[in-house]
Amino acid sequence: MSSPASILVTRRLPAAVEQSLTRDHGAVVSIDDRPLDARALAHALATFDIVLCTLGDRLSRETLSAAPCRTRLLANFGAGVNHIDLAAARELGVTVTNTPGVLTDDTADLTMLLILAVARRASEGAKELRDGAWRGWRPTHLLGRRLGGATLGVVGFGRIGQAVARRAHLGFGMRILYHSRTRATEGEERAVDARYCPQLGELLESSDVVSLHCPATPETYHLIGAHEFECMPAHTYLINTARGDVVDEQALIDALSSGRIAGAGLDVFEHEPAVPASLLSLPNVFALPHLGSATIESRVAMGECAIRNIEAFKAGLVPPNRVM
Ligand code: DGY
Repeated sequence: MSSPASILVTRRLPAAVEQSLTRDHGAVVSIDDRPLDARALAHALATFDIVLCTLGDRLSRETLSAAPCRTRLLANFGAGVNHIDLAAARELGVTVTNTPGVLTDDTADLTMLLILAVARRASEGAKELRDGAWRGWRPTHLLGRRLGGATLGVVGFGRIGQAVARRAHLGFGMRILYHSRTRATEGEERAVDARYCPQLGELLESSDVVSLHCPATPETYHLIGAHEFECMPAHTYLINTARGDVVDEQALIDALSSGRIAGAGLDVFEHEPAVPASLLSLPNVFALPHLGSATIESRVAMGECAIRNIEAFKAGLVPPNRVM
């Protein structure tokens, strides 16, 4: 691509990243700080050579094909690209990049926060205090479950799944099972003493905590639904820091309210930012608003990663994090 290329940034980014994009690359930053709607996205695609987009910008086939597409690069800020119709982008000759790797540790840390919060009943305890309902220490008050010795089933054993397994095994003494499309290497398994479950059902039946770390694809849509909840022991906690639609949210609400499973720690939701009140009001749910990578360190690193992809693309090179 011949520079200078026009660049639109669809959302506010950390100051240092915005500065570098505007100063060094003449980028225009959408100051609205909200996902662009279909019309605004179609306009952006017709106007800019490069669009630095992110989660919430729904780049569907319809939007990508709405007008003659000037955009040659969708430089996504984030690892997940399920908001982009990759097949349509490919047909239109649009390159897509993402920002993997740099948010692994922070997302894994937040996963541990959810696991601990749900197993130690943090929501219920915090609410009781806020409501002025605490009657004082007593031996049977809000008893949770110990993580040490419990079994963590990791679904999706990529960077984040493995980083969670390391924390859970080495830090908290949990036993690790994992399920993924392809088996990890012997070294990766040995690092956390992990046992591979070729069948998801085997992992669900044998885990005390199930944590989801697979990407959202047509194959993983509603991977966890009514049938899978039936396979889980009643004391299971479900943790989701991956993508909301990997879980059938209504089936989750049913499983939690009927006591089919013991609790859920959730950072992502099927129709976010909409979250059903019937889910949030359950005492055995600890929920956060998609904060997995929300540290200044991760967000700056994600911005730098997106910039490296843009710079390589402008120089006619294959961007380091090309998705397709
Ligand atoms: C991603 O990168 O896809 C994350 O969900 C953002 O935290």
